[in-house]
Amino acid sequence: MGSRVSLLILFLVLCHSLSVTMGRFWRKEVEEREDPDKLFLMLKSKRVAKTDAGEMRVLESYGGRVSERSLHIGFITMEPRSLFVPQYLDSTMIIFLRSGEAKVGFIYRDRLAERHLKMGDVYQIPAGSAFYLVNMEDQKLDIICSIDPSESLGVDIFQSFYIGGGAHPASVLSGFEPEILEAAFNASGAELRKLFTRQYEGPIVHVGDSHATSIWTKFLELKEEDKLEHMREMMQEEEEEDEVEEEEESGEEEEQQTRWSWRKLLETVFGDEAVRREKGTRRPPRSCNLYERKPDFENRYGWSVAIDGSHYFPLKRSGVGLYHVNLSAGSMMAPHMNPRATEYGIVLKGTGRIQIVFPNGSNAMDAEIKEGDVFFIPRYFAFCQMASRGQPLEFFGFTTSAQRNRPQFLVGATSLMRTMLGPELAAAFGVTQETMRRVANAQHEALILPITSSSSASHSHFPSASYSE
Ligand SMILES: *[C@@H]1O[C@H](CO)[C@@H](O)[C@H](O)[C@H]1NC(C)=O
Ligand SMILES: *[C@@H]1O[C@H](CO)[C@@H](O)[C@H](O)[C@H]1NC(C)=O
Ligand SMILES: *[C@@H]1O[C@H](CO)[C@@H](O)[C@H](O)[C@H]1NC(C)=O
Repeated sequence: MGSRVSLLILFLVLCHSLSVTMGRFWRKEVEEREDPDKLFLMLKSKRVAKTDAGEMRVLESYGGRVSERSLHIGFITMEPRSLFVPQYLDSTMIIFLRSGEAKVGFIYRDRLAERHLKMGDVYQIPAGSAFYLVNMEDQKLDIICSIDPSESLGVDIFQSFYIGGGAHPASVLSGFEPEILEAAFNASGAELRKLFTRQYEGPIVHVGDSHATSIWTKFLELKEEDKLEHMREMMQEEEEEDEVEEEEESGEEEEQQTRWSWRKLLETVFGDEAVRREKGTRRPPRSCNLYERKPDFENRYGWSVAIDGSHYFPLKRSGVGLYHVNLSAGSMMAPHMNPRATEYGIVLKGTGRIQIVFPNGSNAMDAEIKEGDVFFIPRYFAFCQMASRGQPLEFFGFTTSAQRNRPQFLVGATSLMRTMLGPELAAAFGVTQETMRRVANAQHEALILPITSSSSASHSHFPSASYSE
């Protein structure tokens, strides 16, 4: 008996401190946001890169989420034949190809590798790992990504360190004193000045067409030429070529130097050949396709699918999962909550509504959502998404858990309401067991439910806060 009482007291203390912290946090958030109806929509947008050839925009996560992890959501668009120049970030980034095709080049165990990505592909680029993105297709490339600030320097939303660069963006290397670089590259100051002053078009550049910046086009040609795995052999051949052509005084000299410089740069930054050989040839991770996966759940009203660390192992390290949901017109995801993760969602298509409730049972947000909107739901908070009557609602997103998230459904055929059905639950609601059973069993569908069938579900009969007053 004593232990039960102390457990109960412990529980009450915990509840109290949780609600105090939560209360403080949410009050602060509410005061800061102009429109409290949009408390859980991500609206703080920041353009981190914008050029002729593309742009990157990031929606910043709001801080202070009571020791729970947060993610930023980024949107990258790249014009046909463009390059996002080589860089590394202070944050792990998981990219999802919404449309178009891309090649991602990155360092894996000191080797340079490239992966071809197509629509629906998911790929993880760990913090501190150098990479570049290329769109060599004739169509636009659209990427949505999660950016995990947990490893970040905390200086800005996230920090890019450009490897190649010049006047804009500046290469991280250009900060070193000339004599250090001359020694590191084993090259003359004149050669290095050429390398670090040409680039001025920003972090996303056109390549391989009339506007081509010769230096980046060269960079990509170099990559294709050496086929990456054969870097070493290529370097030897090129050295021989260089020796032959060194004799010739012509306009080709400059081109040779550009190639030479890139090779040196890659070698310096992307790791040493001897190390590379020792590490053997372990293949870098493949991508994983979200669109090709079979739904984990499907009924007449929609489907949902999730990817976690067991489907795509790099996610185990980052502790991030992904999901994709399609609700047909007039359907809803039953009220549920995530016991282990904060959820971020991006509306890909359609329109609908999302409701989120506070721990004390009052309505926290009831917002219309449309394509391009980004929302988040704190861990433990109950919520539901609804497709509008006219069109399906398709959304996708990230969760801060790479293990199976196992959302808990509160209502529906496979829900807490059903599994807890009994005298205790009836007593908790203050109704007879008979009433309780009738209410809990009325819904025959699970997870994804129709909202058009019953009159009580129409908007006017379903006001936001009427049951909590
Ligand atoms: C419930 O909690 C929220 C957030 O802390 C607060 O704004 C709201 O006033 C509370 N509602 C009630 C009925 O206590
Ligand atoms: C630097 O370059 C010179 C001439 O190309 C070469 O002889 C020398 O071995 C190089 N030194 C290093 C440390 O690579
Ligand atoms: C979503 O479901 C609707 C039918 O409700 C269907 O027309 C649409 O193609 C689906 N979207 C996807 C991406 O499967």
